[in-house]
Amino acid sequence: MNGIDAARREVIRLGHPVLRQVAEPVPDRWLGTGQLRELGRDLVHTMAVEQGVGLAAPQIAEGLRLFAYWVPAFEDRPEVPPTVLVNPEIRVIGEEVDEGWEGCLSIPGLRGLVPRHRRIKVKAVDVEGSPVSLTADGFHARVLQHEYDHLDGIVYLDRMTSSLYLAFEPEWERYILGGSDGDEPGDEGP
Ligand code: NI
Repeated sequence: MNGIDAARREVIRLGHPVLRQVAEPVPDRWLGTGQLRELGRDLVHTMAVEQGVGLAAPQIAEGLRLFAYWVPAFEDRPEVPPTVLVNPEIRVIGEEVDEGWEGCLSIPGLRGLVPRHRRIKVKAVDVEGSPVSLTADGFHARVLQHEYDHLDGIVYLDRMTSSLYLAFEPEWERYILGGSDGDEPGDEGP
């Protein structure tokens, strides 16, 4: 490693205790360090290799409050390029809730229908410690809420209102997505 190449890290799966722990805030003294930049790069790289739209540090067994995510362009939805958020805080805007299908790299092979707040505001810092403030809605807001939950040891299964809407991916594609107008057929789960 020369410090530029990112490493593909192992994604831990449900049952690993770190996935269920509340992650620690990233200490201020780590902001802008090579160590934190490297962790951020590893998250983005591993997310890309695994074809996810999000990956939180606890999913690579690092109990710290940061995650990587991206939102692919879809119809009139613009792309959000790969982004790393450190010590994020989420505030819900409004009361609207949408249901949408999610998957998770730590729960491979399954999809579940999950209610999420439609619109949120996020405050965080980047790996350099610069403040980040954004509002997100729809799928963008969903990805952020899913990743944020990982920092508190929560997975999407905990957010589901019924296990009736849990399916293996091939069956989900065949019987559920095939029978609807299907909004995210190409997206892998966070
Ligand atoms: Ni996940």
